[in-house]
Amino acid sequence: MKEKLENILKNGEQEITNAKTVQDLEEIKVKYLSRKGELTSIKKNLKDLSDEDKRIIGSLANNVYNSLDSLITKKNNELYKIELNKKLNDEKIDITLPSDFRVQGKVHPLTQTINEIVEIFQGLGFSVMASEDSPEVETEYINFDMLNFPPNHPAKDMQDTFYTKTAPNVILRSQTSGAQIRQMLHQAPPVRVISPGRVYRCESVSARKNNLFHQIEGLLVDKDITFADLKGILNEFVRIYFGSSRPTRFRASYFPFTEPSAEVDVQCIMCQGKGCRTCSGTGWLEVLGAGMVHANVLRNVGIDPEIYSGFAFGMGVERLTMLKYAINDIRLFFNNDVRFLNQF
Ligand code: DAH
Repeated sequence: MKEKLENILKNGEQEITNAKTVQDLEEIKVKYLSRKGELTSIKKNLKDLSDEDKRIIGSLANNVYNSLDSLITKKNNELYKIELNKKLNDEKIDITLPSDFRVQGKVHPLTQTINEIVEIFQGLGFSVMASEDSPEVETEYINFDMLNFPPNHPAKDMQDTFYTKTAPNVILRSQTSGAQIRQMLHQAPPVRVISPGRVYRCESVSARKNNLFHQIEGLLVDKDITFADLKGILNEFVRIYFGSSRPTRFRASYFPFTEPSAEVDVQCIMCQGKGCRTCSGTGWLEVLGAGMVHANVLRNVGIDPEIYSGFAFGMGVERLTMLKYAINDIRLFFNNDVRFLNQF
């Protein structure tokens, strides 16, 4: 038995010296030191020996166990270091190598226009309504009725407005003008806000029309507000947005929620007023709708039109962007072709 133990020690030492990996060592440990290992089986046979032999062989077995165990631990530390170094070497990255080329995203041209217009009106003392205060899924009541549209107005037609199936009289808003109502229901005059956002119309898509587009609504209500205030603010806006040399004109128009109503034209940016295809030969391009807030609208939200007056305006973001950069197809904004988007 003594010989057997000496052999175990010799073979174990040999195997430990030759172990190449931590995994090898693990196997050696199982082979010699585990509960099913060679040393354990010797210890189990101690009971058949004399007391004297039990003592000698038992302590020899313990010594062999301790020697092998500490050799394994020592070797394990060595191998672990070697393996770690190898791993660190293999996984080394050269941080001086140039990286892959990545296309950088940019702000969408429509967002750029909205940001620009918002900044202009902030400079003129307007605050910006939070988008959650004027939802895109809107009631017919806010989008039309409160804005003094008669019940049979053609804009309410299913041909023009998207109706939802989920609830009666719930629509995708066809204009941002409902934001006027929401703001006035929420805030007593003086009111001075703009509200940018998406609107939806049920039309066939073409170079000039898309089902989804963006508007910016404006509203100012206070005492003694006149049409001259409206002209002053909107002229100032056009001057900043299109440049100071671009002439404007106010043309009488009709909207149910304003009286009087006007449309604002700028001199054609393509032909400088001479008349061309873009302006259909008129020399002018329409850029926004506006007017004095109708007395019925003020009454609908509980504001006394004898005390307060105001003006409102609404403009199309796509149209303003197309005019500024001479873009001839509205669909370009929605195709997400980076060759188009990168130009802005
Ligand atoms: N909501 C109108 C449209 O979608 C635009 C408009 C016209 C807004 C006159 C206004 C306004 O606030 O006063 O065509």
